[in-house]
Amino acid sequence: MKIIMLGAPGAGKGTQAKKIADLCKVPHISTGDIFRANIKQGTELGKKAKTYMDAGELVPDELVCDLVVDRIQQDDCTEGFILDGFPRTIPQAEALTNALNAIEQKMEYALNIDVPDENIIHRMAGRRACVGCGATYHVEFNPPKVQDVCDVCGEALVLRDDDKPETVMNRLNVYHEQTKPLIDYYEKQGIVHTIDGTQTMDQVFSDIRKILGV
Ligand code: AP5
Ligand code: ZN
Repeated sequence: MKIIMLGAPGAGKGTQAKKIADLCKVPHISTGDIFRANIKQGTELGKKAKTYMDAGELVPDELVCDLVVDRIQQDDCTEGFILDGFPRTIPQAEALTNALNAIEQKMEYALNIDVPDENIIHRMAGRRACVGCGATYHVEFNPPKVQDVCDVCGEALVLRDDDKPETVMNRLNVYHEQTKPLIDYYEKQGIVHTIDGTQTMDQVFSDIRKILGV
């Protein structure tokens, strides 16, 4: 099963992608997580990506495309994969289409999680991410058992650097200008399914399961 998660920043792509990956036993490939891991490890890629991410801008296509194209050719992706945060621009989508065409494959589902901008700011302000394992929580909608402590690994939970309100506004603008056109791009391939992302996490997941038939 080859799935793309579409939707604004904070729409719930990561939350749902993890659940689908667990259920369908396919890898969850999040470019944001890959960049954050590189920042934590202090790699060259991480240093380059951080300047863009902190400003709420997109990392240049040339730093992203090869990385994802290489990743989806690894052995654990033969049964499928879930792309979360990629593609984010038309050139990225074209790079993906070309890479898949070369091996006579194509994406099967583009799950568009639809949440109005006004809900997004509130979601981002309440999101907490684990510094250890990257698990995400929400202070109101998905709180950890102990405040500011990760249920999974016991490390501290923090606000992501790019979740400050002024950066979120820029990320939303970037989404509308550069990423939203991908809905049309994948509509033309007939694989877009739009889900009401304002529902509870469980309701959103239930809608996705119906679409995927799992
Ligand atoms: P990335 O990490 O991909 O961030 P994003 O797309 O902005 O998405 P988020 O992770 O912020 O949100 P999400 O939709 O996954 O929501 P979540 O499930 O966490 O990218 C970060 C940056 O990296 C980019 O800005 C860019 O600079 C760079 N980058 C990454 N990929 C790139 C690429 N391909 N090209 C160029 N640059 C790239 O949910 C949000 C919160 O809401 C959580 O607290 C969650 O608990 C809560 N929540 C989730 N669902 C619900 C619900 N149904 N009801 C209530 N609360 C909910
Ligand atoms: Zn953790």
